[in-house]
Amino acid sequence: MIRSSVTKKPSLFKWFFASFMIILLLSSCADEPRPEAFLTKVPLIPKPMSVTESGSSFLVKPNMKVYYQDESQMKLSEQIAGEWEKLTGLSMMVEAFKNGASNGIILDGTDAQDSEKYVCGIEENKILLKGSNAGIYRGWQNIKQMILLAQNDPKNKVYIPTGLIRDEPNFAYRGTMLDVSRHFFSLDEVKEHIDMIALYKINYLHLHLSDDQGWRIEIRSWPNLTKHGGSTEVGGGEGGFFTQEDYKELVDYAQGKYITIVPEIDMPGHTNAALASYPELNCDGKARELYTGMEVGFSTLCVKKELTYKFLDDVIGEIAAMSPGPYFHLGGDESHVTPKDEYLIFINKAVEIIKKHNKIPMGWDEFTAGDLTGNTVAQHWHTPENAVRGQSKGGKVVMSPAKRAYLDMKYDSTSSYGLHWAALIDVKSGYDWDPETYIPDLKKENILGIEAPLWSETVSNLDEAEYLIYPRLLGYSEVGWTAAKDRNWEDYSKRLAEHSGYLERLGVDFYRSPLIEWSSKDILD
Ligand code: ACM
Repeated sequence: MIRSSVTKKPSLFKWFFASFMIILLLSSCADEPRPEAFLTKVPLIPKPMSVTESGSSFLVKPNMKVYYQDESQMKLSEQIAGEWEKLTGLSMMVEAFKNGASNGIILDGTDAQDSEKYVCGIEENKILLKGSNAGIYRGWQNIKQMILLAQNDPKNKVYIPTGLIRDEPNFAYRGTMLDVSRHFFSLDEVKEHIDMIALYKINYLHLHLSDDQGWRIEIRSWPNLTKHGGSTEVGGGEGGFFTQEDYKELVDYAQGKYITIVPEIDMPGHTNAALASYPELNCDGKARELYTGMEVGFSTLCVKKELTYKFLDDVIGEIAAMSPGPYFHLGGDESHVTPKDEYLIFINKAVEIIKKHNKIPMGWDEFTAGDLTGNTVAQHWHTPENAVRGQSKGGKVVMSPAKRAYLDMKYDSTSSYGLHWAALIDVKSGYDWDPETYIPDLKKENILGIEAPLWSETVSNLDEAEYLIYPRLLGYSEVGWTAAKDRNWEDYSKRLAEHSGYLERLGVDFYRSPLIEWSSKDILD
């Protein structure tokens, strides 16, 4: 028999009791005493420009919402809600803003859509993020870091200290590079990498998509590049490549986190994989053997052949069409067997083709030998004079000096992975330099920013790569974001120490540098 209790009128006592409980619940939400917490003490990386505190805390609770004020913030709201759910295990809905909205994150836009400037205001019952969509996303990384730091003590509820952060980056370009050629990294590994770099407000991911050891991006008009040229890697392993669908998925995934992919096809040197895939690209018409060693500087495209420029046009055209970002990187480094006059002819033609496909030519610093005009970007890695020459031709510079910014250099002579031809780069040496003064003849306005490249000769998967990337990447994120006057090693090393707890929980295989007194306090300690 089904009881017909639904038809029975509740007694007066029940009404009273239910109302009492609701009032109690509401008042406990509103008035629940919040622990004191100090926003200025939170070890955020990169360090924000200005932080003021109001001494209370915001409690992370179930059923919070992201409120958007404009349709253009819908995708961003969903991104934030998705990341919140992943981080806290609590569901978060997206809703249009209405007066009095609280218990969640309120997005507020600005007109300055090209800026990453943001304001992050944390109150007891709401968090306000104001900026362009990219700015809001950068501001949101502070909240993510604070949740991760607060989760250090699983006994505590997750509190975020209240106060106001006003912030903007010192440099517009804050990048890292992943060499997927020497060893291939899968789509999932690159996405996982993107998740992590986003947390430190990195906004460019440079993918080194081709080299002597492997061609890693499908080119439909030259299918053998990946079929044959992608079939192996350093050490003779299986290799691999991204289909065009994979690549578009990566571009989209990165865009969701306001990160731009910079595609690189390295040429005219570093091209053995292509020369092995198509005999006609060689001056002698003979295919080269696939290469699985670690030497550099022995291969070159044939500068004199017209076919070489049809090849460039096809490759650059197909990649440019899938790449919404402004840059196409042509490599240009270490072309030791390309005669000097031919190198110049090649660079000039490659630059023209890149411009034809509406991209800004970017190259390693040697490429400034070409007849560059207008908008170009030299990536300084080796020779300061080359960077200054790029500037004198009207170009901009990204700073990646190998002695300071190469993530593939060992920390010290005992490092498990890495090389040491440029330097040993411990965590302090990676942090303690200034891109604005490193090459005295470069003007600040011509420095786009910094990039920390990871070459992958000695690391064959993301776990191994993490040992080289972390914790140094946190330092590079601060070198790129925070003005030199607000940076110092003593303060940074103390903040870095507190990031170890969540890095461990996230399974990041970071190097426990003996220069850091690692600790993993809760945010309230
Ligand atoms: C480079 O390290 N060859 C740019």
